[in-house]
Amino acid sequence: MKNILVLYYSQSGQLKDILINLIKPFQEDENCNVIVQDIKPETEYPFPWNKKDFLQVFPESYLQIPQPNRPIPEQIKNNEYDLIILGYTVWYLSPSIPINSFLKSNDAKQLLKDTPVITINASRNMWILTQEKIKRLLIDNKAKLVGNLAFVDKHWNHISVITIVHWMMKGKKTRYLGIFPKPGVSEEDIKNAGTFGDVIKKHLFQKSFEQLQKELVSRGGVMIKPFLIRSDKSGNHIFSKWAAHIYKVGLKSPVNRQKWLNFFRYYLLFAIWVFVPIVFIIFLLTYIPFYTRIKKNISYYQSIKLR
Ligand SMILES: Cc1cc2nc3c(=O)[nH]c(=O)nc-3n(C[C@H](O)[C@H](O)[C@H](O)COP(=O)(O)O)c2cc1C
Repeated sequence: MKNILVLYYSQSGQLKDILINLIKPFQEDENCNVIVQDIKPETEYPFPWNKKDFLQVFPESYLQIPQPNRPIPEQIKNNEYDLIILGYTVWYLSPSIPINSFLKSNDAKQLLKDTPVITINASRNMWILTQEKIKRLLIDNKAKLVGNLAFVDKHWNHISVITIVHWMMKGKKTRYLGIFPKPGVSEEDIKNAGTFGDVIKKHLFQKSFEQLQKELVSRGGVMIKPFLIRSDKSGNHIFSKWAAHIYKVGLKSPVNRQKWLNFFRYYLLFAIWVFVPIVFIIFLLTYIPFYTRIKKNISYYQSIKLR
């Protein structure tokens, strides 16, 4: 009998739907005992969001400052697992606050120690450096990362920026203005998540996860557009300055925090619509000389290794 624990935090239910499909092969197998537990913040984050709340979570998200979660129930915590599936989303190029807070909690230390973990992320498309942060947090918890899957919005970067804002502010995955594509991970990818579940189950029963990530990657489970590595790195560099400043200002004055968050909003719009396209042109112009390094980076970020 294999004991599998699924932990996740999902607001709209997109990540939850992916996980429900992914774990079907385990649930249909009488040799698997599957427990699903969502991570619950003490104070719920709003969904749909309004502009103010959406900005307010920026400093704590980016700086990975934990906020209180409700404890994981004792009967779940006091069990041993053959596999933990950790579903997370990305907020401001870092793990969402509830997931970051969980990974920095004593509950995580108890649950994850010496346990194989597979991470499943469902984000817009900027998840690459967040996974590096997750890798570090898992090491802090003495967990064994054995696999990762990335579910993303596969539309053009700028199209997905427009459609995700519509989704986050309205709360529904509908076509913005009736002309844009639906936001988020495609229905097809959500529906097909179970095929990855089959792969994971096979490796679980083979009693070795050594070849798992290779197989997940070869089946298209971790697609990486090289420009997104560049954007993520630049974004992290810039966010680190803004987040640190706004957090510090906010400790003294909530009014000033809000004022700086408003500046940040305008900066973000400028960065997305002016800065990112310029970086993209430079990226294209330097693609050939940097080709070998780009290829190396892709295979590193698809892996479960930590540099
Ligand atoms: C405050 C906030 C910030 C986000 N920042 C990012 C980001 O930096 N990169 C990204 O790919 N997706 C980002 N997203 C999208 C989420 O990762 C996720 O796909 C979306 O919120 C739906 O997840 P759900 O299953 O919790 O509803 C952000 C979402 C929120 C609410």
